[in-house]
Amino acid sequence: MSKEFQAPRGFHDILGSDLRKFRRITSTVRDILKRYNYEEIITPVVEFAEVFERSIGETTDIVQKEMFVFTDRKGRRLALRPEGTAGVVRAYIQNRLYTQKPYHKLFYEGPMFRYERPQAGRYRQFHQIGVEVFGVAEPHADAELLKLADDILKALNVRATLEINSLGCRVCRPAYREALVEYLNRVSDQLCKVCVDRKDRNPLRVLDCKVETCKEAVKEATKMVDFLCEECREHYEKVKAYLTNLGVSFRENHNLVRGLDYYTRTVFEAVSEELDVAVVAGGRYDYLVEEFGGPPTPALGFAVGVERLMLLVEEPERDYELYFVIPFGDVHAYALKVVDVLRKKGKVVELSYRKGGLRKQLELANRLSADYAVIVGEEEMKEGVVSLKDMRTGEQRKVKPEEID
Ligand code: HAM
Repeated sequence: MSKEFQAPRGFHDILGSDLRKFRRITSTVRDILKRYNYEEIITPVVEFAEVFERSIGETTDIVQKEMFVFTDRKGRRLALRPEGTAGVVRAYIQNRLYTQKPYHKLFYEGPMFRYERPQAGRYRQFHQIGVEVFGVAEPHADAELLKLADDILKALNVRATLEINSLGCRVCRPAYREALVEYLNRVSDQLCKVCVDRKDRNPLRVLDCKVETCKEAVKEATKMVDFLCEECREHYEKVKAYLTNLGVSFRENHNLVRGLDYYTRTVFEAVSEELDVAVVAGGRYDYLVEEFGGPPTPALGFAVGVERLMLLVEEPERDYELYFVIPFGDVHAYALKVVDVLRKKGKVVELSYRKGGLRKQLELANRLSADYAVIVGEEEMKEGVVSLKDMRTGEQRKVKPEEID
């Protein structure tokens, strides 16, 4: 196949076993979200580029290198969404949701786009299921959110460690930033080129660099937790206490900073033990609604990376029996009726479109993992029955289609 007819690099088809895993993940998460009483929202895949630039941060990798930005026919700068939070915040304000209820719990599911270097579990189009809570400042909301992430991972049987940190607030972050830059200046000869450049523009990101020498250099770096103001400290302590009380295990990672600039106070990632990457990530963003022109509204949320989880979950087992209806001779009118009767009884039925003798038909029934072959010949038609063959035992009996249970 010529290259133009292949999916672009980093874009992929999802089908077969992968799709069954995909659906298992999304339906499990949706079931849990229902019990938490989250309400769904669908936002556009495209927003004005500024929506992301202003929220995720001008100096982040996502905005600087990874966004798919284009101009439309009127010259407006649009972008494919690289994540869900910015669009949901925009929608929250635009739809004036804050006038309807004191707080909101929303979730979304859909494709996101980032121009990253593709590798296992990292694509240029990938899917997230995300949740966002608006209008709650108290730490019990953070704890409940983390419990939700933990419930999702447990339900999917995914082993991941919840790592948490606090990034402080407007009051305490500036002093920390200053102290961190001072520290980074002292170790700048050990930092990679990117981090030397980063340390003045977005110093917190240096803590997250994957280059070995940088990792080593920041081990002893000044920590945000040592700079937290009284309120942030109390908030963080309460979140941890609630989690402990709930039996949710977590690990503090004082270098956890996240790749998006909107976070305040609690941030967290669930890191897969097997893959050593984050499968769920999020945190608080208490100023973002306000920065978008909405009323001051504390908020928090996270997103689940569906493709990452697909690498870790088992394909679900089939939870129904398959009936494979095989017509022989000029019996199609009757066979279509049989199929209809069985489907009305709630059975899962496939009508064979294959031509050929019984052996080939049964071969196909096996390939489809059918539980029953329903043989419909002229004799069966005359008698108003079918020959029902149990594919596991090989047993066969004549039965009226209405009587199959
Ligand atoms: P994020 O950490 O950028 O956060 O992405 C969340 C999750 O999406 C990651 O942990 C990962 O599982 C998945 N993910 C990210 N990039 C890729 C990729 N290129 N290929 C496959 N999976 C990927 C956010 O997006 C925030 N909006 C989360 C949030 C919601 N914070 C507050 N509310």
